[in-house]
Amino acid sequence: MAVETRIEQLKDFEGREVVLKGWLAHKRSSKRVQFLIVRDGSGFCQCVVHEPEVDPELWAQAERVTQESALWVRGLVRRDERQIGGYELGVRELRILHLAEGYPITPKPHGVDFLLDRRHLWLRSRRQWAIMRIRHQVTSSIHAFFEEQGFLKLDAPIFTGNAVEGTTTLFETDFFGQPAYLSQSGQLYAEAMAMAFGRVYTFGPTFRAEKSKTRRHLAEFWMVEPEMAFFDLDMAMDLAEALVERIVQDVLRNRRFELSLLGRNPEVLERVRRPFPRITYTEAVELLRSPETQRLLEADQEALLSERAALKAEAETLRAEQEGSAPLRRGESEHRLAEIAHRLSEIEEELKNIPLWRESARNFRWGEDFGGSDETLLSRHFDRPVLVHRYPAAVKAFYMKRDPEDKRLALGMDMLAPEGYGEIIGGGQREDVLDHLIERIREHRLPLEAYAWYLDLRRYGSVPHAGFGLGLERTLAWICGLRHVRETIPFPRMMGRLFP
Ligand code: 4AD
Ligand code: MG
Repeated sequence: MAVETRIEQLKDFEGREVVLKGWLAHKRSSKRVQFLIVRDGSGFCQCVVHEPEVDPELWAQAERVTQESALWVRGLVRRDERQIGGYELGVRELRILHLAEGYPITPKPHGVDFLLDRRHLWLRSRRQWAIMRIRHQVTSSIHAFFEEQGFLKLDAPIFTGNAVEGTTTLFETDFFGQPAYLSQSGQLYAEAMAMAFGRVYTFGPTFRAEKSKTRRHLAEFWMVEPEMAFFDLDMAMDLAEALVERIVQDVLRNRRFELSLLGRNPEVLERVRRPFPRITYTEAVELLRSPETQRLLEADQEALLSERAALKAEAETLRAEQEGSAPLRRGESEHRLAEIAHRLSEIEEELKNIPLWRESARNFRWGEDFGGSDETLLSRHFDRPVLVHRYPAAVKAFYMKRDPEDKRLALGMDMLAPEGYGEIIGGGQREDVLDHLIERIREHRLPLEAYAWYLDLRRYGSVPHAGFGLGLERTLAWICGLRHVRETIPFPRMMGRLFP
């Protein structure tokens, strides 16, 4: 009897017969051989049906099987360096458990809206497999890191009575006749739990009614939020740095193959080692206004112009070749032409934006908050994540402690990921003096009654404390090198997308 195993484990069965259960991801056939690429969730494996070696019935089964049919395969495990997992299966028996109907997602290119409408199926693709395996790795590393540091993982509620991050992005629901908001952040509850348990973290879904469609915003995203009693701003930055280093190094160690499937260059991730640069908001403003930033954008513009010229030339050659070429070749060049057209429209968009960005960087005024493009520019000056601290208090949340050295500033920090990814972490030291906190709540025009319980934390044994929130999807978009956060979560929720 052949043992049943999973593709991930094939390395333990070289030269032996095994049974795999999975689905047909893809099929390539030639006259006498059929290559069935089977996936079982743990990996992908080429299963080879060689006509002269198998009975006609098996050959016919292999011919009949359609993309995404469910399969039971028995075969011999052979080492083959060229295969993605390093092994292939010489098929000896094949059972079709379910013959799939014509599958909508084919190897030809599809638009992203088409794919998002079929997200429940799109998740089966190789690229999504790689991203979700990295997502799982990142989550596991986060838990391991905090476990080692002696934190308790405790959960904050999702129905909440108060705003944390401003009142403009609240999702309001009806909680037995009383208005309630979906949590924007577990922070206020984490603060209460830190006063009870010292070092805690929450890790859960958070919600923001972001009415803009950007590549960084989801309406529902996952945030890990450590909160530590007796911590100040510097200690929180040290912890944030250690966490991000740990996450990235674990991905490099355990998910290198998945990174390569995504075409992600691991070298930029190798550099993610402590210490990360730390600059103040004021220094960041100077950097933004500096000639270096202007030069960076000029260089971008030149690079885009030459890329555009090269792509246009390539498209022309392809069109000329298409005349009179075989249908198969024509399909390939259609695919490439579609890619080129897509990239060209991106380039046009960027070329249009560069003069605007140059202008707004040059004229950036101290006191404003950084927008997405400012963060993008700032983060490109560094080869690893950068910590920006001491923002103007006016652009930050009510709970931030003021800098005793300069009352205009808040003891807050953001971590910006390199390569233009921008903010992945926000946090800082909390206001721990009762009267100051009451003043802040009033200044922000928040209803004092709703924060009565939170104010209690400053009445009974108030101590300096700090914490931060790391956005899982933004961190993943950066690690995986994706342009948009939408592919980093199994079922993205954003404006205009509630299904599937
Ligand atoms: O900077 P934010 O708003 O900070 C807080 O919520 C604090 N209460 C956290 C804390 O101190 N405990 O959000 C933290 C992080 C951001 O840096 C970003 O990575 C992510 O959450 N984030 C989003 N990710 C995806 N879509 C959105 N709409 C996001 N908004 C914030
Ligand atoms: Mg923030």
